[in-house]
Amino acid sequence: MSIQSFNPPVRTLMGPEPADVHPRILSALGRPTIGHLDPAFVAMMDEIKELLRYAFRTENTLTMPISAPGSAGMEACFVNLVEPGDKVVVCINGVFGLRMKENVERSGGVAIVVNDAWGRAFDPQKLEDALRANPDTKIVAFVHAETSTGACSDVKTLVEIAHRHDCLTIVDAVTALGGCELQVDTWGVDAVYAGTQKCLSCTPGLAPVSFNEQALEKVRNRSTKVQSWFLDLNLVMGYWGGEQKRSYHHTAPINALYGLHESLVMLQEEGIENAWARHRKNHLALRAGLEALGLELIVPEAERLPQLNAVSIPGGIDDATVRGRLLQEYGLEIGAGLGEFAGKVWRIGLMGYSSRAANILLCVGALGNILNSLGVTADTGAALSGVQTILSDRT
Ligand SMILES: Cc1ncc(COP(=O)(O)O)c(C=O)c1O
Repeated sequence: MSIQSFNPPVRTLMGPEPADVHPRILSALGRPTIGHLDPAFVAMMDEIKELLRYAFRTENTLTMPISAPGSAGMEACFVNLVEPGDKVVVCINGVFGLRMKENVERSGGVAIVVNDAWGRAFDPQKLEDALRANPDTKIVAFVHAETSTGACSDVKTLVEIAHRHDCLTIVDAVTALGGCELQVDTWGVDAVYAGTQKCLSCTPGLAPVSFNEQALEKVRNRSTKVQSWFLDLNLVMGYWGGEQKRSYHHTAPINALYGLHESLVMLQEEGIENAWARHRKNHLALRAGLEALGLELIVPEAERLPQLNAVSIPGGIDDATVRGRLLQEYGLEIGAGLGEFAGKVWRIGLMGYSSRAANILLCVGALGNILNSLGVTADTGAALSGVQTILSDRT
């Protein structure tokens, strides 16, 4: 047997993750590997922390990437902040809230689950009611950008309510970071985690996190050890450096960090507000095309994420057939529905480098052609023209 080198097919990635990786980032990944305690590498780590503070809109000293995917960022927040017996209100309006509940319980905490409708922003009144009913709650956790539905929750209001009840907040910004407004300091978020494979246009496998002083105080004053050695922030900080001297903790994924550095340099060049505006404009262009094809977005307009568009699958159309043909005939990946939306919606991502004109035109054209061939009347020409009208608007 002789297994050959792996050369992936060329794809356009418009699912929930990963997004297309920018060529500048792919090229940064191939730069020569150096030692992880080399002074040049340590200086780059400091730049990554500074650039992440820019992306998160924070001055938090503890801002750094965990060497593992977004799920490890989630786990890092829960294992460090939840002590055995702590009550945590978990707001659930999609798949990723469900995972937070698991994390609370595995950290020894008591999860108070508050459910809300999938496909909607989380209702702040439900959080207020839950905290009134559970005055001994220590932490509130929720997802900013729910990737399973495309709904955007109001972080500022949810954090305000949590703070009024003396709770810390853990916010999932895996899909949010770089794609829609997130103001960690102004909104008072205590602990936040993200991912690199979405609106940062980078490869998967790193989880930027940021903790403010109040959150760090809780970590420092724990009466029990953090149950995960790898994710114990007291130890990780010794490596990523605060005021302390750097000491070995694990071997950083050196080349992956070159990629993250490049992606954050690109974000800085574009400007974070401009990145949010680009995601918004491209969402409007995609929406114009999808609606002209007769497809409906499931999230009410005011609660929609620009970077993740969930559309209802027309009656009589088989989800997997269409996604399979998009991949085979157009090299285009879009996402299936998750959980209660499985088989009912497609999730079309417009994240990071994937949020660009060429991708929108490809997606609308390809979907229109396939739907027509399956007997759905869809005016592809009108849809493409609707996309162009928005894309060519220079205001
Ligand atoms: C909202 C949200 N949270 C957490 C995760 C987990 O991130 P990862 O797949 O990088 O572990 C994802 C991944 O899609 C996500 O969308």
